[in-house]
Amino acid sequence: MRPVGLDIGTNYTKTTADGKEVLLFPSVVVFGEEKDWSLKKSHKDVYIGQEALDIVQNIENVEVLRPLHEGRLMHKSYLELAKYALSSLNVSEPVIGTGLPVKSSRQEREELTKNLETELNAKVILFPEPVGTLAHMGVETGVCIDIGFGTTDLVVISHMEYLKGDTMLMGVDRLYENFEVTIRNKAGISLTPEEMTNLLTKEGYEIGRIRGGRRISVKHETIIDDYNSLMLSWVERISNRAKMLMEGLSTSIVDKIVLTGGGAALPNVYEEFQKRFEDVGKIIMPDDPIRANAKGYYVLAKIFSGEIEKAEPEKVEETKKAEEKKGGKKVEEKKKGKK
Ligand SMILES: Nc1ncnc2c1ncn2[C@@H]1O[C@H](COP(=O)(O)OP(=O)(O)OP(=O)(O)O)[C@@H](O)[C@H]1O
Ligand SMILES: [Mg+2]
Repeated sequence: MRPVGLDIGTNYTKTTADGKEVLLFPSVVVFGEEKDWSLKKSHKDVYIGQEALDIVQNIENVEVLRPLHEGRLMHKSYLELAKYALSSLNVSEPVIGTGLPVKSSRQEREELTKNLETELNAKVILFPEPVGTLAHMGVETGVCIDIGFGTTDLVVISHMEYLKGDTMLMGVDRLYENFEVTIRNKAGISLTPEEMTNLLTKEGYEIGRIRGGRRISVKHETIIDDYNSLMLSWVERISNRAKMLMEGLSTSIVDKIVLTGGGAALPNVYEEFQKRFEDVGKIIMPDDPIRANAKGYYVLAKIFSGEIEKAEPEKVEETKKAEEKKGGKKVEEKKKGKK
C-alpha cells in the first residue's frame, strides 16, 4: 500500500505521494447538469478543483460544493476531492494520512474515515490538522498554530502525544471579510478571495475593473496600510487564544511554537507573531506553510505503513532554512527547566 498525504482544507486541497511534490487545487466540486447544447461534447458528471472554479465563475445557478465550512464537514463531496487527488497522483490502494479540525466531532471523524476507506479502498489515519506540520518538521514536543482559510487550529503535543488543542472560527476568511469591505468602500469594487491573496502577496500587483464606463484599479501599494491595521487586530485575537491555551504549560513544551497554514504566509503575520510571543518562546515556520500539513501527513502515513520507523531528520533543516529566509536569528537551543 502506498502512503499518501491528503489535506482537504476549506479553501485548498493539498496532496502528495512522495512527501516532496505537493499537488494543490481548490476544494471545489460542481456536479454537471445536462446543458441545452454541448459544442465540444465534453459534458462531465463532476468537475473538480480549478475546472469547477472556472465553471462557477462563468455559469450562474450551479450548485457549488465545498466540503468544509466553518470547521464542519458539510457533505460527502470530500470523496470527490479525494478520488481526484488519488487519480492525479496515480495511486490506488493507498494508506492515507489526513486531518480534520481539532474540534471536529467524533461522528465526523468516524464518518470521514469510514467513507474514505470503503469508497477508495484505502486505509485511513486521521490527525488533528496542525499535527501534519509538526510531523513534517520533526517536532515531537511543541505547539502548532495552523491558520487556515476557514479555521485556526491549535495543538499542544508532547512526545508525539496530544495534550490539548482548540479550533477557532477565525481563519483568513474573517480577515478577508473585513478587508473586502474596506476595498469596496475605498474603490467601489468587490474582490474575490483569490484576487485579495494576489493583491497582498505580490508587490506591484494591480486589479482593474470597468465601472460606470471608467477603469478603476486597486494596487498593492494603496491597500497595504489598510490591510496592516486589520491584520493587527486579527493576529491579536488569534495570539490571545493561543496564549490562553499555553497558560500553565511547562516551558519545555513551548520551546517550539510552530506557525503554519496559508494565513501564516500573508504579509507581516509571522513578524507580528514573533513580537507577540517574544516572552514565551521562539516562533518557527515551515518552508511552505500551505503545503506543510500534507507533507507531514505523508510522513505519518509512511510510518504507519511500516516503511520507516521515524520522521526523517531533514525536516529540521527546513526549519532553519525558513528562519534564515525570514531573516530571523538562529537562537542557540537551550533546554529550559520546568516552571
Ligand atoms: N501564495 C499563496 N497562495 C495561495 N494562498 C495563499 C498564499 N499566501 C497566503 N495564502 C492564503 O492562504 C489561504 C489558504 O490557506 P490554507 O491552504 O492553509 O487553508 P485551508 O487549509 O484551505 O483552510 P482550513 O485549514 O481552514 O480548512 C488562502 O486563502 C490565502 O488567503
Ligand atoms: Mg488547512
